[in-house]
Amino acid sequence: MNRSAAPQPSVSRQPSLSPPARPAVESLRVYSAPLEGRRGLLRLDFNENTVGPSPQVVEAIRAIPADHYAIYPEYDGLRETVAASLSGGGGTLRPDQIGLFNGVDAAIHAVFQAYGGPGDRLLTTSPTFGYYTPCAQMQGMAIEAIPYRLPDFAFPFEAFEAALATAPPRLLLLCNPNNPTGTRLAPERILALAAAAPDTLVVVDELYEAFTGDSVMAPLLGAAGSGDPADPFAAHPNLLVLRSLSKTAGLAGLRIGFAIGPAALVDRISRVTGPYDINSFAVTAAFAALADQAYVDAYVAEVLRARDWLVERLQQAGVRHHIAGGNYLLIWPARDVHTVEAELRAAGILVRSMAGKPLIDGSLRVSLGSCDQMQQFWAAYRRIDLGSVA
Ligand SMILES: Cc1ncc(COP(=O)(O)O)c(C=O)c1O
Repeated sequence: MNRSAAPQPSVSRQPSLSPPARPAVESLRVYSAPLEGRRGLLRLDFNENTVGPSPQVVEAIRAIPADHYAIYPEYDGLRETVAASLSGGGGTLRPDQIGLFNGVDAAIHAVFQAYGGPGDRLLTTSPTFGYYTPCAQMQGMAIEAIPYRLPDFAFPFEAFEAALATAPPRLLLLCNPNNPTGTRLAPERILALAAAAPDTLVVVDELYEAFTGDSVMAPLLGAAGSGDPADPFAAHPNLLVLRSLSKTAGLAGLRIGFAIGPAALVDRISRVTGPYDINSFAVTAAFAALADQAYVDAYVAEVLRARDWLVERLQQAGVRHHIAGGNYLLIWPARDVHTVEAELRAAGILVRSMAGKPLIDGSLRVSLGSCDQMQQFWAAYRRIDLGSVA
């Protein structure tokens, strides 16, 4: 058959020829981060674990027999394992208080699908993690984002208290510590906000909690005995906490995250997911990662050492920067931010420009990795932005 003679279908179709999506979706654009071509480079652009998962994870995945690829995933025991791992020595989480998701992104999406209707309000901070906005928009929600307080990006607590007292929103989303400002909000203050708005679903995105250790769940689990010892969420029926194995355990590519909260909330957000949304590899990896907490603890300790080292260099060199919680910091280059980002890329190092983001326009967000990796970053940064030859 002569393929070249066949009429070629037009690649770009008129949008009007296809049935339109829901109006809220028609006005959206695909949420895509610049994620291509990153392998082989030093990736300091997405706050991932920069060294990879525990060897036990790698071994567990290698041991999956090929015929298991053909079987739908099984989740038996995973909720129990997550509950035990999160409970630590404190109070007891129940398996029905753990929701399993294809990354915390999928949990966020599910929260909006289950709770956000057209005209409902999302209250959050600005700037914060970018995925909240499209999730609210696809539900036709209105977004109110209260800016962090300059000069040090403090959490605008009084403004939130006032907003909750005046008109409680459907959803309150707090990223703690916040990506990208690192801003931390004490667990007691989060609980106070949740108590002030009992009809609002309060979601605390704790993706980077391991680097600060101040989870909102700590007082709930530690308080066993002061409330219902068997149910840390008994006094907080409107609180949901998000955790992931992406940033510390090094499973970002496998996609697995958790939503932790009252069984009724976990049940509602689990209703809007498919039965097999988390794949078998992620399940196996999660079991192995949760069994090797020592690996995660050692990685977090290394990142914190690297962070102290880098901050000292930045201070000595007089580079404007901001660092608080999380495995990342903001740096304001002396030269044009896009140029510095591009030259770092040419030197094999990826960082993320925050150009156009409210309050932090002109900065670069730099993820923190190991001490060696931070030395590599600093050598390149000094040469590129500070003109240092040494
Ligand atoms: C604040 C925040 N929440 C959620 C996510 C998504 O996490 P996951 O990889 O578990 O989907 C990220 C990833 O960058 C994040 O920074």
